Amino acid sequence: MITERRSPDACAIERAAALLRAGGLVAFPTETVYGLGANAFDQDAVHKIFAAKGRPSDNPLIVHVADVEAALPLCHISREAHILIDAFCPGPLTLLLPKTDRVLHQVNAGLPNVAIRIPSNPIAQALLRASRLPIAAPSANASGRPSPTTADHVYHDLQGKVPLILDGGPCTVGLESTVLDMTAETPTILRPGAITLEQLLAVLPAARVTDSVLRPLKQGEKACSPGMLYRHYAPNGKLVLVTGQPDRVRDRCLHLYRQATQEGIVAKILIFEEHRPLYNAYWTDEESGTLRSMGFLSHPETVARRLFSLLRRMDEDGAELILCEAMAPCGIGLAIMNRLRRAASFRMEDADQPWHPLERSRQ
Ligand code: TXA
Ligand code: MG
Repeated sequence: MITERRSPDACAIERAAALLRAGGLVAFPTETVYGLGANAFDQDAVHKIFAAKGRPSDNPLIVHVADVEAALPLCHISREAHILIDAFCPGPLTLLLPKTDRVLHQVNAGLPNVAIRIPSNPIAQALLRASRLPIAAPSANASGRPSPTTADHVYHDLQGKVPLILDGGPCTVGLESTVLDMTAETPTILRPGAITLEQLLAVLPAARVTDSVLRPLKQGEKACSPGMLYRHYAPNGKLVLVTGQPDRVRDRCLHLYRQATQEGIVAKILIFEEHRPLYNAYWTDEESGTLRSMGFLSHPETVARRLFSLLRRMDEDGAELILCEAMAPCGIGLAIMNRLRRAASFRMEDADQPWHPLERSRQ
């Protein structure tokens, strides 16, 4: 199959809508990440999504709709859910709602609820309106890779597996949507995103975050969202999150970096832009090429936007060890740390604690 990439003019949107109606796949931009879409009412089309991504069939898909009216055939919307939709949709929020019997079990893995999202990206909106279909779409990456935030990322992962990619440029948010379970006794964030807990609390004071957001699942523990079971976001190299006072973090990164390079290991350091001066005085010119900026700590949305590109870049750079500064898990920082902790397989290094080389060698 030849994969066509098109800029999303009216003609390309029409072609994409026709492809969806005919049971084909289309990759399209949303404000969060690119999606790999199919007609949510077409079982064979939905099956193609799982095949193209190499995705386990027990991991349910989000159904994208243009507006709340288009969601009505698919789910039951409570008063509280309506309040959230009024406040945050269209936008980067996915609601888990009780499903109707029109939802195919291939879409929601036979669960009693369905994930519904109304994206705000104008190209996604144009496609939903032109096709007049609900579009089932996971992120348009190969399973296990970081979600794609550019058409290039999609092309890299799915070339030959999808007939059309609508190229809408880089995604503005850069992290997947907040997934909020409205069917739980207490509305619960299963995946943090750009709509933050703090924002949700302002309209839904009972909202909470599932406590497994920042830690691995315990043995035998059931994932509330099947996607959390799978290895995610991890670059090929070993990523280590370094926490602590910025100058101690710098010292620890420097130490680990130099130790690695002495052993011939390719190492990179991911820092916040504000911390660059901390490193400058300590680096030779040659070494300074190992620093990569994640964006501004003072504007964490810049970090969110760049994160997945940067993780992909680490693979292109052949990084075998990636030392990464950590941030506080509040606001959108919770979503950033959720993705980074998974990318690091929960490896953390506390720079405020003394260095224990013997302990490390046991790990
Ligand atoms: O921003 C986004 O949400 C992007 C764009 C394309 O909309 N989509 C996305 O889809 O990230 P995906 O499939 O990569 O992630 C959806 C997550 C998965 O972890 C999945 O397990 C969970 O949502 N999910 C979907 N339906 C669910 C359901 N009925 N119950 C529990 N979890 C569900
Ligand atoms: Mg995904």
